This record gives sequence, structure tokens and C-alpha cells, in this order.
Amino acid sequence: MNSGVFSRFRVLGEGLGVCAKYLLLYPLLAPRRTVHFLWMLGHQILSYNRSEAHAQIPSKTLEAIFPGIERVEVTLADASYRDGNMTTRELYTLCALARHLQTRSVLEIGTFDGLVITHLARNTDSEAHLVTVDLRPEDLQHLRWPLAPGEATYVKKPTIGEKIDQLPPGERSRIKQLYGDSTQLDFQSYYNQVDLVFIDGSHRYEYVEHDSQEAFRMRSPQGIIVWHDYLSWPDVTRYLNRLRHQYPIFHIEGTSFVVYQPET
Ligand SMILES: C[S@@+](CC[C@H](N)C(=O)[O-])C[C@H]1O[C@@H](n2cnc3c(N)ncnc32)[C@H](O)[C@@H]1O
Repeated sequence: MNSGVFSRFRVLGEGLGVCAKYLLLYPLLAPRRTVHFLWMLGHQILSYNRSEAHAQIPSKTLEAIFPGIERVEVTLADASYRDGNMTTRELYTLCALARHLQTRSVLEIGTFDGLVITHLARNTDSEAHLVTVDLRPEDLQHLRWPLAPGEATYVKKPTIGEKIDQLPPGERSRIKQLYGDSTQLDFQSYYNQVDLVFIDGSHRYEYVEHDSQEAFRMRSPQGIIVWHDYLSWPDVTRYLNRLRHQYPIFHIEGTSFVVYQPET
């Protein structure tokens, strides 16, 4: 038997011995030790589970994934920043992707103040259609699942996509706003249509999973999917770490984006 296998058996044997002591013997002789043991065990199990939220997806530079994109020029038109917005580097990256791939259709989940969708409108041609989805504060009463802790703050805003109204009319008219819970809206009319699906709605696992499954149905044959907040929100990270076993996805260096690009 090689030494690796031997040491695993030894650890397993010792572990079973410890469990037998704390679960069979101590409940009779020293019950407080058993309670403490179970408490520590719970902690270990939780931290093992959380360790799934570490980086597991290969990281690549943007230009390694999309050669030639480094020469693309984009329009960045708004220097304001508020809590909930992505970084300027990320905004630049999304705009460059839209330009580089000559995107004709976009669907975003998570409009917030409209920073992203307005920039995508500015960086797509006059034929492109853009759709953006967000919850109204009153939708919080009818959610399918509770949101991730702390997320309701981003929902409770006086106006959804306020930056959309500041666009020139030609660009504004290309954006359609949908309101409601992304898991309760019907996206069927977008299936196989969308060149760029951008996911940044709820960061709770069930929502990320649902939105991603819809994104795979909505993307056009050449369409890409971009997720925000990899390594920032644990459930997003856990979901994408699992998804990488199913699809070739890459983390874009210098951002919290993960991208799926179909093989050509
Ligand atoms: C962090 S913000 C998006 C920020 C935006 N990408 C940016 O960088 O400016 C998340 C948005 O998703 C919306 N949202 C949360 N859960 C949602 C759901 N179930 N369906 C649709 N929108 C949702 C929130 O109302 C919020 O506006």
C-alpha cells in the first residue's frame, strides 16, 4: 500500500475513533463535551462548504479571450459612482465587448440606476436593441425566494434606470425596460436572440442559477454571457465554480466578470 493511501486510512480510522468517543461515550460521562464537539463539527462543516466560494475558474486577460479587443475604442460618458455600480474598468470591459463583438442585442438583469445599459446603448450601433430588467420596490412582497442579505437596499430606489432618461432620444428609444422578479418574467420571446446577456440581479444562489439557465436559453448562437461579482458574492462564486464543470467559462483578469463564449 503506498504511503498516501495508508495515511488516508489512518486519518479515517482516527476520525471514527474520535466520533465514537464523543458521540457514544461522552453523552453518558461528559455530555457538555459532546455538545462542544457537535458545535465545533458544525463550524468545520460550514467552513468546508464556504471554501467552495474560492477562485476555481481559470483567469485570463480580456485580450487573451478576445484577441484584438485591446484596439477597440469605447465611449465612457458618466464619471459618477454610487454604491451598487460596477468599477470603471468593468464598465470599460463591457463596452469594449459590445463594440468588439458588434453586438446587436443585449439583455441585462439588474438595471439599478441604468449606468450599464446606457453605456451599452452608447457602444452599440443604431440598429441594436437593449432590454433591461429590474424589481420594483413593491415586488419585494412577491419574491420567489428571499434576496441575499443586504440586497434590498439596491431595490429600494425612487427610480429604476434614472440615467436612461438622460440619454439622447435615439439611444433612449432602443432601450426597453421590464419590471419584475427575473424568476417570474417570461423571457421566451428572447430565446436564441441575445448577443450579450449580462447577469447582475439578485446574488442569492437560486436567483443566479435561474438567471443563468435563462441566459443560456436566450443567447444567440454566437451570443456571450457575462456574470458580475465573481469572488465578491459567495453564492455567485459557488454557482459559477460549479458551472465551470459544464461550460468553458473564464474569469476576466482585473474584473469580477466571468464570461461564457461559445466555441466557434
Ligand atoms: C447591484 S445592482 C446592479 C448594478 C449595476 N449592474 C451597475 O453596476 O450599475 C442589482 C440590481 O438587481 C436588481 N434585482 C435584484 N433582484 C432581482 C430580481 N430577482 N429580479 C430583477 N432584478 C433584481 C436590484 O433591484 C438592483 O437594481
